[in-house]
Amino acid sequence: MDLTSFIRQLPKAELHVHIEGTLEPEMMFELALRNDIDLPFDSVDEIRRAYDFTNLQSFLDIYYQGAAVLVTEQDFYDLMLAYLERAHADGVVRAEIFFDPQTHTARGIDFSVFMDGFSRAIDDAAARWGISAGLIMCFLRHLPPEDAVATWYQAEPFIDQLLGVGLDSSEVGNPPEWFAEAFRLAREAGLHAVAHAAEEGPPVYITNAVDALKAERIDHGVRSEGDAGVIAMLVRTQIPLTMCPLSNVKLRVFDEIGDHNLKQLLDLGVMVTINSDDPAYFGGYVVANYLAAAEGLDLSREDLIHLARNSIEAAFMSDANKAVLFDELDAVAAE
Ligand code: HPA
Ligand code: ZN
Repeated sequence: MDLTSFIRQLPKAELHVHIEGTLEPEMMFELALRNDIDLPFDSVDEIRRAYDFTNLQSFLDIYYQGAAVLVTEQDFYDLMLAYLERAHADGVVRAEIFFDPQTHTARGIDFSVFMDGFSRAIDDAAARWGISAGLIMCFLRHLPPEDAVATWYQAEPFIDQLLGVGLDSSEVGNPPEWFAEAFRLAREAGLHAVAHAAEEGPPVYITNAVDALKAERIDHGVRSEGDAGVIAMLVRTQIPLTMCPLSNVKLRVFDEIGDHNLKQLLDLGVMVTINSDDPAYFGGYVVANYLAAAEGLDLSREDLIHLARNSIEAAFMSDANKAVLFDELDAVAAE
């Protein structure tokens, strides 16, 4: 079996994907037309050419601009359903999906608009394709911590539709501990906690996300490499890293895929997983990320099975549900 088919058929969980980052240029155009919104681009090709990033901020500027075409419940439904269809085609059996409410509420869009659209698509995708999904609401760290707390209170009526909270956007200079209060409220309400850390920021942001936010997974964490104490903590606790190899190359965290440290960290015993982050902007969905890592880092098929196994282990699912997926994975791996 060729490598792509091998990767595709492994049952996998995707744990780090921003729904706004799955907005393909074609859909961006279609929604701009539908909602009578001016885009600063004349064609799909021109949009794709603009995706030439120098760092995280250069991406975020374009990503927030793109999200402005999302207005109605149907827009959020269409976006979510399109992602889940692609994820299912990639062998994703479980997706834990980020969204950025403040990007939408700042434009006057009510929480109920995107929550209803997302939930309706998740229900339809489960019925059509058997894919299971949950929502993780991210606080934007470039905005004040008080805004995160206010966003939490806006989200409270929708708590049954949420799996957890996360922390994203511009990392350097916006440390995790500033957001302790919003995270405390979410945890007290029974939600899971995750946080982006050490994508561009220092390894101490990982320690602080774990200590101050009680983060159960770290998104990215690539810059843990420089800190032996942080790595020892990750190995001891088995707190997962949700890594995104194509994202890291596109945003110049690494010059090329061959420089990525995911294989080193995997071999050291860190609970590494592979994910797509913002696939419409970074050149590929989950299979493309596994494939890039496999080819660039010479991963064996055992490594790929190990990574798929980690993704299920790191998911926020019951042990009984995980056991079913581990059995499916073992069956496929034994073929
Ligand atoms: N990092 C931080 N914030 C983000 C990202 C990311 O990779 N993608 C979308 N928001
Ligand atoms: Zn991310």
